[in-house]
Amino acid sequence: MTEHFKIDKPDERNMLDDTAQGVLGTPMNRPDGPLKVTGTAMYAHEWHPEGLCHGVLVRAGKGPGNLTHLGTDEVRTMPGVIDVVTDQRLLSVPAQGMANAAPEQGHDRIAYDGQPVALVVAESFEQARFAAQSMEVVVEPDEGAHYDPWAADTKVETPKAKQSSQGDLDKAMTDAAVTVDETYTTAGHNSGAMEPHTSVAQWDGDRLTLHGSYQMLKFNKNELADSLGIKPDNVRILSPYVGGGFGSKLGICHEAVAAALASREIGRPVSVALSRQQVLEATMRRSETRQRVRLAADAEGNMSGMGHHSLVSNLGSQSFAEPVTQATPFLYKGENREIVQQVAETDRMCAGSVRAPGEAVGILAVEVAMDELAEKLGIDPVDLRLRNIPDKDPTKEIPFSSHMLGECLRSGAKSFGWDKRQKAGMRREGEWLVGMGVSSAVRVNFVIEAKARVRLDPEGTAVVETDMTDIGTGSYAIFTQIAAEMLGLPPSQVRVVLGDTDLPPGSGSGGSFGAASTGTAIWLACDNIRKTLAGKLGVESDDLTLKDGEAIAGNKRMRLSEILNSEALTAEGHVEPGKTSKEVRQATWGAHFAEVAVNAVTGEPRVRRMHGVFSAGRILNEKTARSQCLGGMTWGIGMALTEELLFDMRDGHLANRDFAEYHIPVNADVPQIEVDLLHERDAWANPMQVKGIGELGICGAGAAVANAIYNASGVRVRDFPATLDKIM
Ligand code: MOS
Repeated sequence: MTEHFKIDKPDERNMLDDTAQGVLGTPMNRPDGPLKVTGTAMYAHEWHPEGLCHGVLVRAGKGPGNLTHLGTDEVRTMPGVIDVVTDQRLLSVPAQGMANAAPEQGHDRIAYDGQPVALVVAESFEQARFAAQSMEVVVEPDEGAHYDPWAADTKVETPKAKQSSQGDLDKAMTDAAVTVDETYTTAGHNSGAMEPHTSVAQWDGDRLTLHGSYQMLKFNKNELADSLGIKPDNVRILSPYVGGGFGSKLGICHEAVAAALASREIGRPVSVALSRQQVLEATMRRSETRQRVRLAADAEGNMSGMGHHSLVSNLGSQSFAEPVTQATPFLYKGENREIVQQVAETDRMCAGSVRAPGEAVGILAVEVAMDELAEKLGIDPVDLRLRNIPDKDPTKEIPFSSHMLGECLRSGAKSFGWDKRQKAGMRREGEWLVGMGVSSAVRVNFVIEAKARVRLDPEGTAVVETDMTDIGTGSYAIFTQIAAEMLGLPPSQVRVVLGDTDLPPGSGSGGSFGAASTGTAIWLACDNIRKTLAGKLGVESDDLTLKDGEAIAGNKRMRLSEILNSEALTAEGHVEPGKTSKEVRQATWGAHFAEVAVNAVTGEPRVRRMHGVFSAGRILNEKTARSQCLGGMTWGIGMALTEELLFDMRDGHLANRDFAEYHIPVNADVPQIEVDLLHERDAWANPMQVKGIGELGICGAGAAVANAIYNASGVRVRDFPATLDKIM
């Protein structure tokens, strides 16, 4: 039986508030935690089927250009080498949410420096790596390639559908008492998941089984099938444990296609893992951005206009463009608005989704501009934001499903001690200048279609099954809690099985929609089981209480095992997004506060403490939700201070392709971080009234740090990361 639900109207049932188990929302530990720390949880690369051989990708060292020679013959005779796969499909560019299909057959075209061109397969990993490193790859580079998105002769697209304006921003800027018109730049970023991309492929006749590290299995299955030219039904992907994704594993990557092709050719299972360098050079990157932000306000700080013009980059063949201005249409008041979104065609690796695509970098620029506006007006930056919270979406003239920005700002200011903030450059401790900064956090919220199956066994245990992934976010924990709560079972009696495309297709993990989408599918399946149980007892399901393996209705009280009478109950849940996205504006909200010290001699910035307040509907697990926010805020520190993909603009080569050179914040860079989660219900979101929190924490975190640097030192940095040379 499938319970289907289309999200078309607010759902006030609030059933989870009435359930009796008391586990939902609590900081329950991850059930998968012990498996992970004891090495029992099997990650993709740990699968060693009988006869396994190892593949290492060979890449082009120049691009774009023509591949004129591959030294395959020399490599084939090297020790341990089994095969060199040069299938044209290896050349295709990985593209998010799209298959690797339709490569330019017969054209040995290299699109970018670092692109995989062959897979060397050997008996051992070391033999494969040695042979791959020895292989000669000759690329005749094109004349006149474009690497620099800001160069005057780089082609820039302005897709018509992505531009918008209302009112007259130019006039608003002229008429305004106070304006800001500044340009901000942010560097490219890498997802940097702890577990690199890995795949182990094995064929049984024409059926492929792939143990991989992926986020969105139902899509990945189709992408892989497309790439190989086979039916999706013949592909099974397993990703029960994934060591982080952050967008880099939304779409299938080269190593999966290469492992599958090689395994089919050789007739043995093949394992391919990307090295850290390969992840940085050949998966995908967050684009660098250039953003012009315009703000217009009267002397009291009431905003009348806002403009956001963004320029990002990608390969010409790709449709993705970092949606920098995503939250700009509804964040603040102002009847005059203009949004321009442009993409420069650059001949470098693919740009794609990296955590909170859009807001992560867009809000950084907007929120620094807001700080500049507050400074010019002589208004407290918290007050300026509070003053400009719109009553309804100022662009679409539709209401907000819920709006907690003001709450987050007020409560955060209080807990952080914002009232102790001084004017810029006024607080000095020895050789350190100390300042405070604030930023709003905002991220769009949505659900995508998802299915899940739940089985209640007669002995009073439940099994939840879906191809949904847990990429480190806590899916196992929250799904256990949802099922335990709905079915009245202790969490230990619920088993969650994830990451297998043979199970009902969930949402996958991405866009902060996983918990709400797949969680709702599980909720629906459980709701269906509750209804069946109620029917068996002859009561309405609203009058049924399930607790500790017992069903209680009126004066009846029975163990589930008695009601079920040795027959399991199975139900499926199926959720689809509906009309609500058109009727209301739905987002998650937060506020970041940062205290930063800047060395008066060297310009070195050190974050001292941060405080984040977030609101995302019902919080399913206080601990895993908080951890998501901590991770996002940490990344915000990286975005503000250290993270930067450095491409050599003469030849498009990525110069910093490891963690020694691409600087992510380490423990010493991450001080005390506090996270407060505000509890609310968003009835428009879904029956559980939960919204996504995964990507909210990174949105605005960097701006709070940047604004604190200004408050400490009086230096306004508009080019990120704010390394010390820019502050000196
Ligand atoms: Mo996310 S960047 O949608 O994994």
